[in-house]
Amino acid sequence: TRRTTVLRREAVVAAVPVAVAALLVGAGPAAAGTVGSAGAGDPYFPLSGNGGYDVHHYGLAIGYDPQSRHLDGKAVITARATQRLTRFDLDLEGLKVTGITVDHAKASFRRDGQELVVTPRDALCKGQEFRVTVTYSGTPKPVTDPDGSLDGWIPTDDGAFVASEPQGAMTWFPANSHPTDKASYDFTLTVPKGRTAVANGVLLGQKTAHGRTTFRWRQSEPMAAYLATATVGKFDVEQYTTADGIKVYNAVDPREAAAAAPVLKKLPSVLAWESKIFGPYPFRAAGSIVDRAPQVGYALETQTRPVYDSAPDLSTLVHENAHQWFGDSVTLTRWKDIWLNEGFATYAEWLYAEQHGGKSAQKTFNSLYASPASSDLWAFPPGDPGSGAHIFDTPVYARGAMTLHKLRTAVGDRVFFHILRSWATHHRDGHGTTAQFIRFAEHASGKDLTTLFHTWLDTSGKPSAP
Ligand code: ARG
Ligand code: ZN
Repeated sequence: TRRTTVLRREAVVAAVPVAVAALLVGAGPAAAGTVGSAGAGDPYFPLSGNGGYDVHHYGLAIGYDPQSRHLDGKAVITARATQRLTRFDLDLEGLKVTGITVDHAKASFRRDGQELVVTPRDALCKGQEFRVTVTYSGTPKPVTDPDGSLDGWIPTDDGAFVASEPQGAMTWFPANSHPTDKASYDFTLTVPKGRTAVANGVLLGQKTAHGRTTFRWRQSEPMAAYLATATVGKFDVEQYTTADGIKVYNAVDPREAAAAAPVLKKLPSVLAWESKIFGPYPFRAAGSIVDRAPQVGYALETQTRPVYDSAPDLSTLVHENAHQWFGDSVTLTRWKDIWLNEGFATYAEWLYAEQHGGKSAQKTFNSLYASPASSDLWAFPPGDPGSGAHIFDTPVYARGAMTLHKLRTAVGDRVFFHILRSWATHHRDGHGTTAQFIRFAEHASGKDLTTLFHTWLDTSGKPSAP
């Protein structure tokens, strides 16, 4: 149906006198209200995302040669204008743009840092569906985040480790790169024969010809750009369907295979346990990408298929897969709310241990609470990391999880597990904010939780009463 809308729209656009659009484009200051903003308005990453439109779908065709590190890309982006637009931005860092069309008409563009500024031939009406095609190529490079970590397309000895939280999507495709804008994705990834290219969702097919293999992947459920991957390497591949009908695809660097095998074997039981606690698994596909990449130093919950820079331990597997509910399906709307991702995924680790013969969550809480006031744990309150430089620091993970434990002890297990599950269910394939979560918990428990959340999320230093 989307396609017919686009086609019908094209017919209408073609019928509009070109002079009318030209007048509007050239209207100067009077047209300021028709220019899409350069950012989504997130103070931590002001240029991430853009204003004025909403992407429904990305069709990404990417060829990559690990030896020369050259990438050829074509992105077909289907979006809807949320305002009248004479001009709009995409995020793209580095790479060379060779052409852009909007609804099949050549568009003009310029580069301004990470902003790819697009001026369509004809202005877009508010509510109009439009299709942007960007062809681009070059040698993708990761960005360095404010915390010093690498993010985006990270070359490895046999391909690339592709993990884009929070802002790296723009290093490999033109995107509306802010979590507020989720979309479905199709990937067509072409790599030299013998390499595997792994993206999100379901593998539709793979085909080898003339020494190159093309992998087609489809991510049907909405996804934030930071959760997209197109990791390339030499991988052992394993595919199966779980008892719940989830399609699993594991790609494992042979150098990590022996260490990874016993943990990856537990994926179906981890997903089944998490589904029992958090509600039905939100996606039709699952899996893992284990790609040796010591320069990365972290794992990421890439949607349906987390990527690990070395063989994960069980706790990390539990963490990244818990993010499929908390972060991927229910997505934050501003990076300040990152505890909604990391605090929840960390608490999932505590719960897993508690229910599998390990430490109780209370014990984990207690040993953390015993940390001295000078500890990093108390450096800032998790509800306010202060800047993008601290979104992955200890307080976000550990004190974020402690906040959930305080909630649990305040409302009791029955209500607490109901909250976790119904939060994930109600906001599935959508978004959630900290304020919404607090209201949600108060509504479910019938309790005033203002002080609890204020103390644990927003108050500096070690809270006095455990
Ligand atoms: N969200 C990841 C996790 O599961 C961490 C990502 C860190 N990213 C970064 N650029 N440092 O905890
Ligand atoms: Zn995490």
